[in-house]
Amino acid sequence: MSIPMNYDENFPKITSHAKEYGFVFPSSEIYDGLGAVYDYGQMGVELKNNIKTAWWKAMVQMHENIVGLDAAILMHPTTWKASGHVDAFNDPLIDNKDSKKRYRADVLIEEHIAKYEAKAVKDADKKARKEGWATGDEAYQGFLVNSRNGRKAAELQARYEAVLNGENMLQGLYDFIVEEGIADPESGSKNWSEVKQFNLMFKTQLGATAGSALDLYLRPETAQGIFVNYLNVQKTGRQKLPFGIAQIGKAFRNEIVARQFIFRMREFEQMEMQYFIKPGTQMEWFEYWKAARSKWHQALGLKPEYLQFHTHEKLAHYADAAEDIQFRFPFGFKELEGIHSRTDFDLGNHEEYSGKKLRYFDPETQESYVPYVLETSVGLDRTFLAHLSNAYTEEEVPNAKGGTDTRVVMKFHPLLAPIKAAIFPIVKKDGLPEVARKLFDELKYDFPVDYEEKDTIGRRYRRHDAIGTPYCIAVDHDTLQDQAVTIRDRDTMEQVRLPLTEVSTYIKRKLDWREVLG
Ligand code: GAP
Repeated sequence: MSIPMNYDENFPKITSHAKEYGFVFPSSEIYDGLGAVYDYGQMGVELKNNIKTAWWKAMVQMHENIVGLDAAILMHPTTWKASGHVDAFNDPLIDNKDSKKRYRADVLIEEHIAKYEAKAVKDADKKARKEGWATGDEAYQGFLVNSRNGRKAAELQARYEAVLNGENMLQGLYDFIVEEGIADPESGSKNWSEVKQFNLMFKTQLGATAGSALDLYLRPETAQGIFVNYLNVQKTGRQKLPFGIAQIGKAFRNEIVARQFIFRMREFEQMEMQYFIKPGTQMEWFEYWKAARSKWHQALGLKPEYLQFHTHEKLAHYADAAEDIQFRFPFGFKELEGIHSRTDFDLGNHEEYSGKKLRYFDPETQESYVPYVLETSVGLDRTFLAHLSNAYTEEEVPNAKGGTDTRVVMKFHPLLAPIKAAIFPIVKKDGLPEVARKLFDELKYDFPVDYEEKDTIGRRYRRHDAIGTPYCIAVDHDTLQDQAVTIRDRDTMEQVRLPLTEVSTYIKRKLDWREVLG
């Protein structure tokens, strides 16, 4: 399988679909919204909760040695000094002196390189149409890499990586922008300031009086809530290494370039797990968690060809190894999840700053040491966007007039779908609504169901295709005689006739976590 050629054109359609069907709304929209902050609507909250459940089950419930935590967003300010965020959680920014606009220098460069990559893809697609190649073909890939634009993109990428790893990164970024003639995307001006670092943490205050107020930060990652509780959980849970602590919660970053819908937000949610291990075993666990996390994404239906690993060129201040699981969003392969070997950086620093011992006494070796940590960190909102992108499908289907219609169908995994089944009496009379309501009242204890009696049955099917409901159940006149209903499968549109008494078991069998996580 390969990426469909018009896949990237889906992005604007996905963002408007998400709003039209109650998945995602701009925050405080009646006041014209707030940059890069979003609210989840009636469908969105269900999808989000289902993703959280899938993660919690896979990480906590299915591992004897991983437990959960729900730490506060506000933490003692020294946490962020110890974690390195006060000194090192920065983005390199550049100002345009004419337009007075501020940009992330690294993003300007990445977008510049992406332009050459996009040109190379366009050339390759043109050639592919002539030659009859598919995007996955060796000939296509060869053409892509060796074309003029493909070579230029690779050359710039190599130079960019050298800058990121170089001694004077800020100067290197500035030189790159000037030498490549990169212009302000809005004004076209090339009159740039020097590149400076900008801290991404949001500040707030604890306490009412100016003199005694304590300056705090909104947490930029959930991980530190886990580190500061390491000893509490280890001791009260009598945990032995290796063991993990998992947490789902909000994080906040004052992103300068906050774009691409819910891909980069200022307020977002993370699902993080810190795995405490014996020093020296980190590479073994690194490989283990890379494989486990990639399997989880695929088990929930993300297409394997949309997933790839990416090794970090520049390691974060806390890591000795890091790889991303990237997803092919409709704007390119981008980070979905990070797998980080964090060594004893965090616990070691918290020991130093707090003056409290954060050690593990190893009963086997009779030694006491600061454990190493292997982290898996996935964005909930990015996983949500990955599933929207993965599920969004436009299909030609036959209509009643003998022609075809285009249907938009969200092909979510049934376990992630916001609503599992919709029940329709085919007409609003003759006792059919009563039978349908009775079925609704039985099924509502098992999973989220919807009841709809308005509009033609075709319209009702389309509405539920658009939100990804996997099963639609029609109650018709025959139901009154045979006590059976018709169940339509969202993806195949095939229909089966089942006794009313078997509907719940039939759908429950399709919603089995064992199938997904086993
Ligand atoms: N504790 C490690 C950590 O926070 P990270 O790579 O900065 O690592 C982890 O973030 C994940 O959080 C990312 O892979 C991404 O899915 C998500 N994430 C980070 N910044 C985000 C943002 N501004 N908006 C949405 N998701 C974000």
